[in-house]
Amino acid sequence: MSKGTRSIKIAILGLGVVGNGVLETLTYKKNAFKDQFASELDVSYILVKDLNKPRELYSSNALITDDYERILSDDSVDIVVEVMGGDQPAFDYIKRAMENGKSVVTANKEVISKHGQELMSIASINGVHLLFEASVGGGIPIIRPLSKDLNANDVDAIRSIINGTTNYILTNMTYMGSTFAEALDEAQTLGYAESDPTNDVEGIDAVYKLSIMASLAFRSQILPQDVYREGISNLTANDFKYAKELGYVIKLMAIAKRQDSEIDIRVHPSLLPEEAPLAKVNGVYNAIQVHGDLVGHVLFQGQGAGGNATASAVVGDIIDVSGDLVRNATPVSYIGNGKEFPIRSIAELVSRYYIRLTVEDRPGVMAKLTDVLGSKAISIASIIQKESDTSLNSAELVITTYPSKEADVQDALNDISELDVVRSIGSTIRIESGSAD
Ligand SMILES: NC(=O)c1ccc[n+]([C@@H]2O[C@H](COP(=O)([O-])OP(=O)(O)OC[C@H]3O[C@@H](n4cnc5c(N)ncnc54)[C@H](OP(=O)(O)O)[C@@H]3O)[C@@H](O)[C@H]2O)c1
Repeated sequence: MSKGTRSIKIAILGLGVVGNGVLETLTYKKNAFKDQFASELDVSYILVKDLNKPRELYSSNALITDDYERILSDDSVDIVVEVMGGDQPAFDYIKRAMENGKSVVTANKEVISKHGQELMSIASINGVHLLFEASVGGGIPIIRPLSKDLNANDVDAIRSIINGTTNYILTNMTYMGSTFAEALDEAQTLGYAESDPTNDVEGIDAVYKLSIMASLAFRSQILPQDVYREGISNLTANDFKYAKELGYVIKLMAIAKRQDSEIDIRVHPSLLPEEAPLAKVNGVYNAIQVHGDLVGHVLFQGQGAGGNATASAVVGDIIDVSGDLVRNATPVSYIGNGKEFPIRSIAELVSRYYIRLTVEDRPGVMAKLTDVLGSKAISIASIIQKESDTSLNSAELVITTYPSKEADVQDALNDISELDVVRSIGSTIRIESGSAD
């Protein structure tokens, strides 16, 4: 080691997509990092679950082990990089690493979303770092901007597309006319969706990421259970066709807004005007639009997943921590003196709506529908008869509304479902405006 550099010992927990990307980056850029940052980043340990799995390794010096206690008891380990995923044992490993004086870098959205506040206080008490840039948006820098760079702002809105799998599926349904099952199948074949896609398609992954961003942006602890959630599995090819005819695309939106000292936070499919910046974010790409009182709108966009893109964020955090260790600097906590804002119920949301329903193809249907909607003070923006099925004597209708209260819309839908002329209610999708606030 040359004069003035310090060796930083690293243990990587997990050697999957991200772990491999991190190991490869630390190996191939080792000399460049030493020159630029005056620290020699040495991977001492790699923790895996299955020692017998065949692996391609980029570093010959690291000890591969399935024994975490060995890493924990080695006082020379400075940084534990957790890239295993899941709640347990990852949470326990992160917590114990910090209690043993080791800084932690993690890509784990589930752990940070569920236990972030507790872990940040453990980091603070023990004088160690806890960084998690890769937990949201893969390679897109968003945690540091929300925690530091935008600190002078009152951030009041985040609107985002933060799940690459669902964005790939929705893009396919929009432009190829695929059904949900066909688009999911293709995403799985290409490795963009897991064999069990529930966390992605039901919006759970996006909930974790949104709760982390909102907690930082609003300096308020927001847990996954605070976020209203709907997935994309009930959307049909016709919804995409009709949305296009109306000038919209359908996206899984993750939205958090601070309004009148309350937080409106939700993940659900939305109709977005085709010309909106987020409507043009396609395939596995992610984008996050933030609105602050001073800066106005800022848009962060890029690859939300993948070994290299995620390694960009993880290794960036490692370099950050190493710099502080070399300078002997005190870690800066990401928690501010937060004010806890109450969460606004989805029933209070005021939005425009797209409603698709199947009705009997006979006179008088429209009058009955407009009566119900009128009785709940819901104004109709358009009502269009789409496809008819003469053999079943039914027709598909699409209604769009002016801004209406969610609770009133749900009441009206209940009443509509009871009408003798209504066969079924298909989709109800909120319509977002194109702007970020
Ligand atoms: N993939 C991405 O593009 C991406 C993007 C952003 C964030 N992330 C996050 O990064 C983390 C890792 O994701 P990944 O895609 O790299 O996962 P992955 O490919 O499934 O790899 C997980 C690794 O962790 C190891 N592991 C799992 N449980 C373990 C345990 N109990 N003890 C020891 N090792 C264990 C596995 O060991 P074996 O090899 O022995 O099975 C495997 O090497 C997750 O939190 C994920 O949400 C991923």
